[in-house]
Amino acid sequence: MLIDPFGRAINYLRISITDRCNLRCAYCLPETGVKWMAPEKLLTADEIIEVVRVAADLGITKVRLTGGEPLVRDDLLSIVKQISQINEITDLSLTTNAIRLGELAKPLAEAGLQRVNISLDTLQPEKYHRITRLGDFQKAWNGILAAEAAGLLPIKLNCVVVGGLNDDEIVDLATLSVEHSWHVRFIELMPVANEQDWGNGLPSSDQRYVSVQSMHQALQRLNLQNVDSSTRMGPERTFKIPGSLGTVGFISPLGDHFCSKCNRLRLTADGNLRSCLLVDKEISLRKAFENHEDLKAYIENAVKIKPKGHELSQHNCPESRCMSQIGG
Ligand code: 5AD
Ligand code: SF4
Repeated sequence: MLIDPFGRAINYLRISITDRCNLRCAYCLPETGVKWMAPEKLLTADEIIEVVRVAADLGITKVRLTGGEPLVRDDLLSIVKQISQINEITDLSLTTNAIRLGELAKPLAEAGLQRVNISLDTLQPEKYHRITRLGDFQKAWNGILAAEAAGLLPIKLNCVVVGGLNDDEIVDLATLSVEHSWHVRFIELMPVANEQDWGNGLPSSDQRYVSVQSMHQALQRLNLQNVDSSTRMGPERTFKIPGSLGTVGFISPLGDHFCSKCNRLRLTADGNLRSCLLVDKEISLRKAFENHEDLKAYIENAVKIKPKGHELSQHNCPESRCMSQIGG
């Protein structure tokens, strides 16, 4: 069991398998001139599997693959298959923009993937293109349906709410949970290396932040009922529209101090263990791989330096990596 200095048990590893993405969401990446990591800098599939094996021995039971966009990595199916064969990993999931799920949902399910979280911020095709700059709404939508048909359940939808952009669609997005057994989760925009002008018909930085409280307010007429159990594990507060098949959730990285219950460790695509999404302290596994050292001590050290919490409210924001390089 991995226990950090603040007594938190760490059982969840989020692995960014590539920093590349086929979209350029305004809050995540600049429109042009993105500098991707050199391919030789990325961990190989074998190295990733080795980290998961050692982590599983140390008590990790839950793995999520992220990016960038994990579905653009060529050897994704082999990575999923090998992780799914590690007995201790009982929950294997992936976060995706769904653009490639139409073709990959079924093979992923067959390779052993259990479920997916899908980023979808709008139901309006023109706006989808404006936010993602390269995306086709219909492809993402088809991807969601393909994931559902392949049994990658429960389907969770992540909606980052941005003032002046999609805050007028909160009711429409929440209403998806009435007829679909999907978990629609509204996420507050995080100030992670994306403070610049987004350009091209997108809101300015002083307009963008919408608190979970105002999202909740916007949903008043849907009469949301709280369904959180006392054993709530993740950072989400969960509600239900009466009579609906799915749920509506809120994730507040700034407002909600969830840090005291944080159970995660992150691995970046270039092989750095990062113990907090929002704090730039990392441990490189490069040396361990080059010298064939045991990864155990490295993982334990990453847990040892896990900070008590982030310091966003004191305006200490991470700067070394943008969101696409950490994987959310
Ligand atoms: N603030 C909040 N959420 C973000 N994501 C990416 N960038 C940000 C940001 N700045 C979300 C995406 C995706 C997940 C990986 O992280 O919407 O669902
Ligand atoms: Fe790509 Fe996800 Fe970032 Fe959008 S939020 S650009 S889909 S990594």
